[in-house]
Amino acid sequence: MILALVRFLLLQALAFRGHDESRTSSNKGNFLELTSPYVQKDMCEACAKQTTKAILDDIGDKNFSILVDESRDASIKEQMALGM
Ligand SMILES: *[C@@H]1O[C@H](CO)[C@@H](O)[C@H](O)[C@H]1NC(C)=O
Repeated sequence: MILALVRFLLLQALAFRGHDESRTSSNKGNFLELTSPYVQKDMCEACAKQTTKAILDDIGDKNFSILVDESRDASIKEQMALGM
């Protein structure tokens, strides 16, 4: 169920995060609104491990570079994007 939700959001290029994820927000974004908070951390860790493994498998022993970009979101929190 959760995996299907994550896959759906990715395939539809929908944002996981909301503009306001605070406790009092009436719309905390797609992921928080659609999933139980108890499984979100485990799910994010599992996705991060699989993503890291896929990247490492793809890179192998080849050289690579990393591009890092930062900007502030609406709540003035720094958001970092990584690209390879
Ligand atoms: C990878 O980096 C090393 C160290 O700079 C260099 O000697 C080597 O030629 C590079 N390999 C490729 C495929 O560019």
